Amino acid sequence: MIPFDRLGPVFKAFSSLVYPRVFRTLFASSLQEVPRAGSVLDVGSGTGILSQFACKVRRDLLFTMIDPAAGMLRFAPDFARRVLGRAEDLPFPERAFDAVFAGDSMHHFSDPRRAVGELRRVLRKGGVLVVFEIDPSSLIGAMITGGEKIFREPAHFLKPGELAERLAEVGFECVVSRYDWRYAIIAHAGRG
Ligand SMILES: C[S@@+](CC[C@H](N)C(=O)[O-])C[C@H]1O[C@@H](n2cnc3c(N)ncnc32)[C@H](O)[C@@H]1O
Repeated sequence: MIPFDRLGPVFKAFSSLVYPRVFRTLFASSLQEVPRAGSVLDVGSGTGILSQFACKVRRDLLFTMIDPAAGMLRFAPDFARRVLGRAEDLPFPERAFDAVFAGDSMHHFSDPRRAVGELRRVLRKGGVLVVFEIDPSSLIGAMITGGEKIFREPAHFLKPGELAERLAEVGFECVVSRYDWRYAIIAHAGRG
């Protein structure tokens, strides 16, 4: 397994490089629809790079970060509430959040299908989910998939269409944006 617990300093220094500028622009614009002083959840937050991007454009939001690696959360920004836990069992009530992010984390979840159900459960109707992932059908994505398997990570990489379908199964309406070997899905919580 990748020793995330020991990689906090590395992620703190370098994780912003994973996210292309064009994604950051899309992310910032999707945050504009979150109500004033809304609650947002960063799942598999690591050291909280997505929350940091978000806080630059929406200082009014209330941030919660959840991750099973204490060694990652230790490097989280002070403005966020930090919770030790897993995406498959989110310790929050139904419809607790106006927005949820999962950046470069979903393929690490041991049970992504269950986690997707949890993401939908904690998001209010009409709330926005932002997922950033690696496309395993690209050359770089295939290499990363192979590398993570060597580390015995779950490596649950899904192609953009597959993840969009899975999100739709639990009531999300999805728009996919592709960035070469990476992609984002902006999904709105519909029915339910
Ligand atoms: C590649 S890091 C990405 C961290 C951060 N989102 C970023 O972009 O820098 C993946 C993160 O997923 C977390 N993770 C692994 N399994 C998880 C699970 N079941 N539920 C939630 N997070 C998990 C890891 O601890 C790690 O912090």
